[in-house]
Amino acid sequence: MNELKIFAPATIANVSCGFDVLGLALDTVGDEMTIRKVSQKGIKITKITGQDLPLETQKNVAGVAALALLAEIECDFGFEIEMNKRIKPGSGIGSSAASSAGAVWAINELLGKPFNLTDLVRFSMEGERLATGVSHADNVAPALFGGFTLVRSSEPLDIVGIHTPKELYATVIHPQIEVKTSDARNILKTTVQLKDAIKQWGNIGGLISGLYTENYELIGRSLEDHIIEPIRSILIPAFDEVKSESLKAGALGCGISGSGPSIFTLSKGESAALKVAEAMKSVYEKVGIDYDIHVSKINKQGIKILESN
Ligand code: HSE
Repeated sequence: MNELKIFAPATIANVSCGFDVLGLALDTVGDEMTIRKVSQKGIKITKITGQDLPLETQKNVAGVAALALLAEIECDFGFEIEMNKRIKPGSGIGSSAASSAGAVWAINELLGKPFNLTDLVRFSMEGERLATGVSHADNVAPALFGGFTLVRSSEPLDIVGIHTPKELYATVIHPQIEVKTSDARNILKTTVQLKDAIKQWGNIGGLISGLYTENYELIGRSLEDHIIEPIRSILIPAFDEVKSESLKAGALGCGISGSGPSIFTLSKGESAALKVAEAMKSVYEKVGIDYDIHVSKINKQGIKILESN
């Protein structure tokens, strides 16, 4: 095998109560990447379509993540990367994570899998560090593991795959503005009140329990964020209306996807998720804000091979 074409999924980080620790992978939105072995050592990014992003290896998240992998293995050949970026940077659904995770996953396959998934998360985090200034793992982990993931610890890195209920669907609406993750992090407070922390860890426990027992009602009750959402939601147009309309339409819960501006909901079943999508769309249509919207089953597989040669 000398060349792989892959699908690298978009992801929802935080999932309301799990800032920097919880994430999930989507199925219907993601980037396509082609990675091939070449005789010249190192990493070369040969083509990017869909978005205007740097081709220089050191300035591109996929390049930086791939170099982090190559630094830990003897390799007398190199790799070329082509990207068709379908996930818009600054949308809050893990654009940089998909590029970083896709690059290292495909290179690992072409090398005969010398690294495990946690190693690949570690390499991908170097791409996140370039993109946001912080090497958080809550987008790259679900992109690589699939389903829901928990970053139990960043140092040492400990990623836990979480059971994904069969009928769980996500709806994500992206108002067409860009929010840089670094800006959305800079506005956060650095301390948390004990009373808010108590609510937050109650919800994280509730969400994990709800996912394992496929208790959709408990999942919904646990999708609350008392720490980050009250601060970041002011950056997102009509956030409160989108949330209240989606809950009225039957969503289990609603919150900010990653650092925003995308807003996500979880629903039980595809028809419920489609109904919620209509409610979310109608808010932005009423106030005249352009949007993209995605309805997706939770992607249990993570990165997928589309073609191999
Ligand atoms: N946990 C990160 C944040 C995710 O919310 O800043 C960024 O996509």
